[in-house]
Amino acid sequence: MKEKILAFLKEQEGFVSGQVICEALGVSRTAIWKYIRTLKEEGYEIESVTRRGYRLLKSPDIISREEVLFHLPEDILSGEIHVYESVDSTNEAAKRDAAAGMPGESLYVADQQTAGKGRRGRTWISPKGEDIFFSLLLRPEIPTECASMLTLVAALAARAVTQQYAGENCLIKWPNDIVLHEKKICGILTEMGAEMGEISYVVIGLGFNLNRMNFEEEIAFMASSIRKETGRPVARAAFLADFLQEFMKRYRIFLKVENLSPFVEEYNRCLVNTGRQVKMVRRGEEMIRTAGGINELGELIVMDQEGRKETVASGEVSVRGLYGYV
Ligand code: BTN
Repeated sequence: MKEKILAFLKEQEGFVSGQVICEALGVSRTAIWKYIRTLKEEGYEIESVTRRGYRLLKSPDIISREEVLFHLPEDILSGEIHVYESVDSTNEAAKRDAAAGMPGESLYVADQQTAGKGRRGRTWISPKGEDIFFSLLLRPEIPTECASMLTLVAALAARAVTQQYAGENCLIKWPNDIVLHEKKICGILTEMGAEMGEISYVVIGLGFNLNRMNFEEEIAFMASSIRKETGRPVARAAFLADFLQEFMKRYRIFLKVENLSPFVEEYNRCLVNTGRQVKMVRRGEEMIRTAGGINELGELIVMDQEGRKETVASGEVSVRGLYGYV
């Protein structure tokens, strides 16, 4: 009911009387008064005037079920929406539910993670109140070898929405880091569960640095946020909804073709590595190569000094710039 009252207030231009809300939503005046009080405690600025009613003046930038549902376009996801003030890791929450039979296209969003996970066993530092951490639980009916391509589909959506909010050119560092001014704004961790050679679930987890201004010493040289780079704060629930729109439209296409052919051109246009030298680490051995674009499997095409080309898969190598992160 709280989310309905909030949505109702957001739709109104000016004041709306308690009586009108009662009739529209079928709740008592006392219940409305209590919900309004809770909303105020959460940071909503709501004006209450005798005989005129209530007027929403300002919404806080919070990650709550009401805010997330308010911004999500109807029917964008066929699964369930889970919103946490704090959780160990949205990827872990999604995987626990996957094992318990949760439907695909379910969303797990958190304001804070206490055990956020990065790629290659790293930690993803996830403090509350500024950034956004979420995972999508999907159950795509595609061959297992296609699952890793979904990470690149997510990277395209993440790049598009980051660019929309930053208003500046954003790029992808292969396979799935989103880069603004050569600093990492978003990381993606995809995990898959399979049974008898078939995909049971894919969980795609994204961490976006949106409003954080201070980064730990060990990552400060390579990480930043949209706010830090542009000076503009980002409204988190709206950003999430915009990401999901960008992702779902590409996901539906991907499910039909089961490869990245419809996206290769877009991806290569946005690839920061193209033409640059990269240091590849394969089974502990370092190699310098020049990066080209990706192919329709999402592999990176690289060239050695003699001009010999080969392709590398993301699970197989890690790629770094020669003189820094990019
Ligand atoms: C990376 O190392 O670049 C990947 C970082 C992925 C972080 C996100 S935050 C939401 C989801 N939950 C996690 O524990 N990790 C991912």
